[in-house]
Amino acid sequence: MKITVIGAGYVGLVSGVCFSELGHEVICVDHIEAKVDMLNRGEVPIYEPGLQALIKANRERGRLRFSTDLRASVQPSDIIIIAVGTPSLPSGQANLSFIEQAAQEIGQAMNGYKIIVTKSTVPVGTNERIRDIVAKCTNVPFDIASVPEFLREGTAVQDTMNPDRIVIGTDSPSAGQQLTTLHQSLTSNIIVTDIRSAEMIKYASNAFLATKISFINEIANICEKVGADVTKVAYGMGFDQRIGASFLKAGIGYGGSCFPKDTQALIQIAGQMDYDFKLLKSVVEVNRQQRYNVIRKLVSLLGQLTGKTIGIWGLAFKPETDDVRDSPAYEIIAALSDMGAVVKAYDPIAADNFRHHCDVSGLIYCENAREAAWQSDALCILTEWEEFRQIPLSDIESWLKSPYLIDGRNIYEEEQLAETQLVYYSVGRPGMNRGVKETAPFIML
Ligand code: UDX
Repeated sequence: MKITVIGAGYVGLVSGVCFSELGHEVICVDHIEAKVDMLNRGEVPIYEPGLQALIKANRERGRLRFSTDLRASVQPSDIIIIAVGTPSLPSGQANLSFIEQAAQEIGQAMNGYKIIVTKSTVPVGTNERIRDIVAKCTNVPFDIASVPEFLREGTAVQDTMNPDRIVIGTDSPSAGQQLTTLHQSLTSNIIVTDIRSAEMIKYASNAFLATKISFINEIANICEKVGADVTKVAYGMGFDQRIGASFLKAGIGYGGSCFPKDTQALIQIAGQMDYDFKLLKSVVEVNRQQRYNVIRKLVSLLGQLTGKTIGIWGLAFKPETDDVRDSPAYEIIAALSDMGAVVKAYDPIAADNFRHHCDVSGLIYCENAREAAWQSDALCILTEWEEFRQIPLSDIESWLKSPYLIDGRNIYEEEQLAETQLVYYSVGRPGMNRGVKETAPFIML
């Protein structure tokens, strides 16, 4: 099939590249000229394992092209995929201006029947709005479909090539059939449903996963009070197939480009219909508070933070990505800096993005993990990069000025700690707290 993908961001680029890998002829369109130039030079604007090799291979096979010309790219294709951004407005609502503009430009370019697919996460009813916008611009027949994307950053290629399921929301049986054919080599779990349910499946899935994370984080906070270990609790819970073992890792809360934005958007969507989504509001608030647990623990160890030097390992919202959007590291570092601490940070690949997108005055960027820990009053681990796991605790102990280690991602085990004198705090594992009687009282910040 001939496919045009509009928007070469995370979702659009990975989807387009994967469709070309499956043998389709793909054009990825983006209005940012510098990005398209980069891709045409074989460079990749995002860090995503495996992506660069697929781009190179499929460009060489002549199946993958990049362009800024939407009209010329839409006309030869049978399927047009909209994958532009839907950033949050200050109210939390999704900003649909990029979607609406794409719909209008597609409408103006229509030269024959096409299926217009939306992969961007959009509020319920948006695909119908897209249909109206396109229909105002053309008399050429077309169908619309919502095919939400569930890929995770860091494993985006793998997730796209091996999805748990494909959801196709459409009111056209023939479009449903063609899109089923397009995806059938990827999975046998293809769900064809109505458009509004497909739109809702995406929000409900992300909100549910965010709920699991906030739930286990609150269990971790209670474990700290009652002397249980959250990793053991999660392990024991995960065997129940109704619960499932994934997304039960306690830590400093979720971040990234999807969960924070989509939970807020769903609260707004419900609110517009006069429905108060209390559960999801609590999930968001728990997530916000969880970030500050790191600060509470630092304060309980060091007292006043003014003039104290705090080392930070990890700026990305999770490992294997250079994405810092809504990274917990930002709020934690900003709070430390407001409290007068000197903050030194290291991340294997996300430092440049952090420097450009997160405005924290006075933050010192370090070249390596040792430099961030060196002579610091405490070290905080905020992203569970494999590189950090490989560093012996005895090295950390010898680099720090005071032996305080706050592990926001529970990356160390008891046996590793036994060999050191480090004072160690992790999340929801009070049995592993060393040199400390109890955690700071849970003050809301
Ligand atoms: C998420 C969804 O998983 C994906 O289906 C959707 O399409 C986009 O949003 P992503 O944001 O790439 O993907 O990352 P994910 O791996 O889901 O992690 C999100 C956040 O949750 C990270 O900050 C991560 O550290 C945190 N997390 C995840 C936890 O704190 N605990 C867990 O058990 C799992």
